[in-house]
Amino acid sequence: MSESETASAAADKAYRDAQEHSAELKAQVGTGAPDSYFACRNLHAFYGESYIVQGVGFEIPEGKILALLGRNGAGKTSTLRTIARAGSPELRQGEVWLQGTAIHPMKDFEAAQQGIQLVPEDRRIIGGLTVEENLELAQIAEPRGWEFERIYQAFPRLKERRTQDASTLSGGEQQMLAIARALARDVKLLLLDEPYEGLAPVIVQEIERILSDVRQLGITTIIVEQNAVAALKLADLSIILDQGEVVYEGSAKDVLDNEDLRHEYLAI
Ligand SMILES: Nc1ncnc2c1ncn2[C@@H]1O[C@H](COP(=O)(O)OP(=O)(O)OP(=O)(O)O)[C@@H](O)[C@H]1O
Ligand SMILES: [Mg+2]
Repeated sequence: MSESETASAAADKAYRDAQEHSAELKAQVGTGAPDSYFACRNLHAFYGESYIVQGVGFEIPEGKILALLGRNGAGKTSTLRTIARAGSPELRQGEVWLQGTAIHPMKDFEAAQQGIQLVPEDRRIIGGLTVEENLELAQIAEPRGWEFERIYQAFPRLKERRTQDASTLSGGEQQMLAIARALARDVKLLLLDEPYEGLAPVIVQEIERILSDVRQLGITTIIVEQNAVAALKLADLSIILDQGEVVYEGSAKDVLDNEDLRHEYLAI
């Protein structure tokens, strides 16, 4: 067998094993729309033959914040991308539901129209356009979210810089713009991938303040963060992933209080 055939066979076997082990979750699949505001069930997703998201499932009640944690390479970004229905990784099995609507058969732009807004780690700010033009672009398709006035009230720094080329913004300002852009859409589930990444502590505090405002507004959110303590302070619930599987599910406070768990899976 060639190397790629061996890898493929190994991926197939891992997939079959996980299917057997996730019988309980599997039993839930196909039972139709869940009662909860957001739910994903038994997600299995692949990059080519690399089997990465291995049976992930959880629920979030409306208005709650979930911290999705785990070591580097645990599959956090891949899980967010699967939920947002990004082209990769490819979802081969499992379901994503938002307010009773099946999201799993959708493409990324359709999921976005349903209100799933992913703020990726690299922020995807569009250089050559001003801050305001970046916001306008977010509102090009229905349904629209916040009016500019409301956005600028929440983000005074963006107001000051609204005619500035977005590529010249500082890292913290770019993060603010990325969050503002999600709010400019009609956001029903906000997915934040490492919002504090690469930012100075004082800017982290500013983004924390913005996110606690978002929390007050009751926007259902999943936050992925290396800074687990900051994420857990913001969150109500927490999931810990390890090698593409959920290894812990509970309240955010329980993770903060559970030293063994933090040592084992979060290295803090
Ligand atoms: N495009 C890709 N093609 C192949 N494998 C990938 C791809 N993107 C990620 N992976 C692999 O999937 C696994 C999970 O990656 P992922 O980015 O989801 O982890 P993560 O938990 O977000 O990690 P980090 O904390 O470093 O951001 C890793 O082993 C990674 O190498
Ligand atoms: Mg990641």
